Amino acid sequence: MKILFLNGPNLNLLGQREPEVYGRTTLADIEAKVRERAARFNAEIDFRQSNLEGELVGWIQQAKGTFDVIVINAAAYTHTSIALRDAIAGVGVPTIEIHLSNVHAREEFRHKSLIAPVCCGQITGFGQKSYILALEASVYVNETKNTR
Ligand code: DQA
Repeated sequence: MKILFLNGPNLNLLGQREPEVYGRTTLADIEAKVRERAARFNAEIDFRQSNLEGELVGWIQQAKGTFDVIVINAAAYTHTSIALRDAIAGVGVPTIEIHLSNVHAREEFRHKSLIAPVCCGQITGFGQKSYILALEASVYVNETKNTR
């Protein structure tokens, strides 16, 4: 199976950015751990980051027919982007929403996710482990074809 991991704005700064919230692990460290674990599941991984909404939309559109599952940490776009929501809904590739921090325990503006209703589920609050949990969830979603 092929899984596309997408990371939104400012996640390139992980490790230096608000470490009390997001920890000291870099995105490259997380990618390495995801790749290591993916090998056990025989899953092929593509791992990308962009600060640009349109680039993320383009990658979601291109995922159709190539990837079995998308895992997305849309970062701040989670709370603002109708474009990402429409891309996920339009493309129909099963998508899992993830966050490092528990968005529901933070500021009120983070409680609302515009993409949650078009995702299979949400994993939030487990730090870098959210990515590993999402990998396991991807295998489950792919096996059960439990799309929405
Ligand atoms: C985040 C949570 C978002 O609210 C925030 O804008 C981020 C990171 C997380 O992984 O905890 O940039 O998606």
